[in-house]
Amino acid sequence: MTKARLQVRGDDRTFTVAVGETILHAAMAQGLELDHACGGVCACSTCHVKIHRGGECFSAASEDELDQLDEARDVGLDSRLGCQAKLLRLPEGGEVEITIPTWNVNAIREGGGH
Ligand code: FES
Repeated sequence: MTKARLQVRGDDRTFTVAVGETILHAAMAQGLELDHACGGVCACSTCHVKIHRGGECFSAASEDELDQLDEARDVGLDSRLGCQAKLLRLPEGGEVEITIPTWNVNAIREGGGH
């Protein structure tokens, strides 16, 4: 097996992420809406996700990523930027679980979000 299943809480959808792939890349490749205002270069926080299970299988957050996460809303210990979190190894059981917040910085600026 070369891919892990990502279960997206509250969305009832699953998609797969390959070892070496970021969450953002996997999501976009499979039609899952995940904002990425800066194009995936760690210069915004709109790709904020929370990895509830399997986070240890992803690349460690860099200082730049942590700085960007400081700008995100509702940040927790399981927060990551989808464009930076790259799957390094398969999790036990083959699944990781993430939440993609329904709000993001752009939505809030435009008067949306919740
Ligand atoms: S898309 Fe901008 S930091 Fe991830």
